Amino acid sequence: MTVSTPALGTVDLGDPDTFADHELGAFWRTLRDTAPVHWNPPVDGRRGFWALSRHDDIMAVYRDDVNFTSERGNVLVTLLGGGDAGAGRMLAVTDGYRHHELRKILQRVLSPRVLSEVAAAVRANTRQLVREAVGAGGCDFAEEIASRIPMTTISNLLGVPEQDRDYLLAQTRAALSTDDEDVDELDSEMARNEILMYFMDLVEERREAPGDDVISMLVGSSIDGVPLSDEDVVLNCYSLIIGGDETSRLTMIDSVHTLAARPGQYRRLKDGEVAIDTAVDEVLRWASPTMHFGRSVVRETELHGVRLRPGEIVTLWHASGNRDERVFDRPAEFDLGRTPNRHMAFGYGPHFCVGSYLAKVEIAELLMALRDFTTGVERTGEALPIRSNFLTGFSALPVRLLPDPRGLKEADR
Ligand code: HEM
Repeated sequence: MTVSTPALGTVDLGDPDTFADHELGAFWRTLRDTAPVHWNPPVDGRRGFWALSRHDDIMAVYRDDVNFTSERGNVLVTLLGGGDAGAGRMLAVTDGYRHHELRKILQRVLSPRVLSEVAAAVRANTRQLVREAVGAGGCDFAEEIASRIPMTTISNLLGVPEQDRDYLLAQTRAALSTDDEDVDELDSEMARNEILMYFMDLVEERREAPGDDVISMLVGSSIDGVPLSDEDVVLNCYSLIIGGDETSRLTMIDSVHTLAARPGQYRRLKDGEVAIDTAVDEVLRWASPTMHFGRSVVRETELHGVRLRPGEIVTLWHASGNRDERVFDRPAEFDLGRTPNRHMAFGYGPHFCVGSYLAKVEIAELLMALRDFTTGVERTGEALPIRSNFLTGFSALPVRLLPDPRGLKEADR
């Protein structure tokens, strides 16, 4: 793959190829310095939209769900496609009072206290997968390890039967991102429908025979005395799968890719020089798996002298905000010991990622398993980048995990 630096006026942030074929570091820096409220013009009948690149501006829009709404979509694909079918019912695309009430329900099931068993299962699963891969000599980290952690975790939470998980994983991938240029938006839409239909059946089953899983809990929840409808439950299960699988998976893959290229940072992890929580935050800042989120303007607002008019789309670019030199020292350096680290990987404000604790548990367990069972990571082939204007990362990452006999022996005891 050839990666080049594009000229400013030629970059179309709506086009997935922009991210696959270009190195955008210099582009983002120019925007931050000279055009913090940048207009991405219409292309081929597709609407134009604003792009914010500075950390503080992005945070300000995230914080403000009165002047900027999520209810007309919160990513380019829905914002440009005319809206989100889950608006007003699915947490991420609901605002105001209903968002607040729905969020309380989801926060309950995703709180650290409730998740202690799930966290223990993440630990056991991750350690087993890493040890197997170390024993095997080499693996595709994306396929054999990262694919099997977040999906297993969310499936456990939702009570998705074992035999359905591979099917669900394939649909989730097609729904959001792809490494296959022949898979188009229509295929993605079909995959999204497949997931919704799958959960419709599961919700019906749980209404008849509730268990102790999240679906059963949602089925038994109500807002102001009105029970959540089947559609409400399905849409929010969908958002847990979509929100919780690919983002965590891509972050894990990126962390291994980055550590393989920077043995000095791996050493700091191995030697216990950096706290795991600090390392997790830097991995999240660095990977920025969700490149953007977005909002629609509700009331006219001015930012850096630019007027944002009602109905216009404003996109918020983590890919740039997480590298903003106004906020981060040496932003282009991967530093596992970085503190403070005000990264925006989980967004900010009322829609701040409700699964952030779970995501951090997953990434922390991976880093600890690598630290304990390996002496380093080597890449053995090319990483395969995904093609998306929303997510960034790799769908294949061939590596060798170098065994640490002492760590492995200790774990056997
Ligand atoms: C919201 C990122 C993991 C479920 C968000 C938002 C971001 C984000 C940036 C804000 C979206 C917006 O403001 O429009 C991430 C990243 C993750 C991750 C980078 C992993 C590294 C998870 C997990 C789950 C999850 C594990 C579920 C178990 C959600 C949900 C929302 C959300 C339901 C909507 C929250 C709301 O609107 O109140 N996530 N997420 N995410 N995330 Fe995550």
